[in-house]
Amino acid sequence: MKTTITEVHKHIGEEVTIGAWLANKRSSGKIAFLQLRDGTGFIQGVVVKADIGEEKFQEAKALTQESSIYVTGKVVEDARSPVGFEIQVTDFELIQEAVEYPITPKNHGTEFLMDHRHLWLRSKKQHAVMKIRNEIIRATYEFFNEQGYVKIDPPILTGASAEGTTELFHTKYFDEDAYLSQSGQLYMEAAAMAFGKVFSFGPTFRAEKSKTRRHLIEFWMIEPEMAFMDHDDSLEVQERYVAHVVQSVLSNCKLELQALDRDITQLEKIAAPFPRITYDEAIQLLKEKGFDDVEWGDDFGAPHETAIAESFDKPVFIINWPAEIKAFYMKPDPKRPEVVLCADLIAPEGYGEIIGGSQRIDDLELMKQRYEEHELTGPAYEWYLQLRQYGSVPHSGFGLGLERTVAWISGVEHVRETIPFPRLLNRLYP
Ligand code: 4AD
Ligand code: MG
Repeated sequence: MKTTITEVHKHIGEEVTIGAWLANKRSSGKIAFLQLRDGTGFIQGVVVKADIGEEKFQEAKALTQESSIYVTGKVVEDARSPVGFEIQVTDFELIQEAVEYPITPKNHGTEFLMDHRHLWLRSKKQHAVMKIRNEIIRATYEFFNEQGYVKIDPPILTGASAEGTTELFHTKYFDEDAYLSQSGQLYMEAAAMAFGKVFSFGPTFRAEKSKTRRHLIEFWMIEPEMAFMDHDDSLEVQERYVAHVVQSVLSNCKLELQALDRDITQLEKIAAPFPRITYDEAIQLLKEKGFDDVEWGDDFGAPHETAIAESFDKPVFIINWPAEIKAFYMKPDPKRPEVVLCADLIAPEGYGEIIGGSQRIDDLELMKQRYEEHELTGPAYEWYLQLRQYGSVPHSGFGLGLERTVAWISGVEHVRETIPFPRLLNRLYP
């Protein structure tokens, strides 16, 4: 009976066949332990010379790393195994012999591993991170679908910038100029006026010359946008959504969190509501923590975010930032127009900002004024103004960066390990 590693629990005591690769092995004179992986998981295959015969046993001992095989054997319970089972191998058939697989069980440098990303993905740690990424994606669709959101896909080729012009990828669009999308937000606002509550989930691009553990050139963003919701309503959606994602990973990725040695006590604390501090309070907190030169009006860097996060054991919202350092579309606080109704959500444990969100300007005259201040002209922006002309309503939304969220929940240091094929400064392959 053909099965997979995650399904072996349904076949205890039975003989099964699994298509697999040899991740690793060790052997003695009488017994060989094959570390098998099949994409769904990892399991040990035990080959006993006395059972399988001399010739087949020697063949097993000679198997090379990453050779592909069909393994047949009996499923037995094994308390020492992380999956709870092992295979007592009765036979195997070599599909292809891998000769000199470049990634050996010894330690390799990061650049070497990144050059071999197409193979590195097979390793236990990378496999675990991608499974967690997949669970976050699944839980995201589950959350927004259950809450009545409609998934809307904004375009990737656009005629204008959504988040400022310095980080745009330019390309020709026949005779016109086009840019790769930095954010689908402006389109999601149009969609919210048509469908009420919407979300997008797709790739976005930033031509940022940053080489940090938090920056990718191409990353995936989830962008919900809600009509008739003010910024406080949006914060509630954000904290419930993030808590749902974390709890889903805790429930459904136990083996993966274990493979990554993730301290899950940190994740178990993640439940709504999350603390909120104002930008002013954040400045105060930073001064108390020894950041003497930070001033009102400064944007925060990674060390600032990490210092703020250290004071909380849940993600923390920093609300009401100075208008001058935030995007043109954010709605000013009516009580204090120099700050805008927005928030950055800072993850715990030094993973930095995972969400940026705000209430949007819904007043036509104010938006026109912003257009003048930011010199936004031409057909690429005119349509956005019309959203304030025809039945404008209060509305809010946010963008969550998938890779930073995967890094935090998985506990991996750098976002380059949280996307299958990272696009980084100086890296466009594999
Ligand atoms: O804060 P940002 O720039 O917000 C927007 O783009 C809004 N238009 C979203 C919205 O309101 N619909 O980006 C949102 C999130 C950040 O908090 C971060 O998690 C992630 O996107 N992000 C990046 N992730 C990886 N690499 C980069 N270069 C990133 N830039 C932003
Ligand atoms: Mg931001």
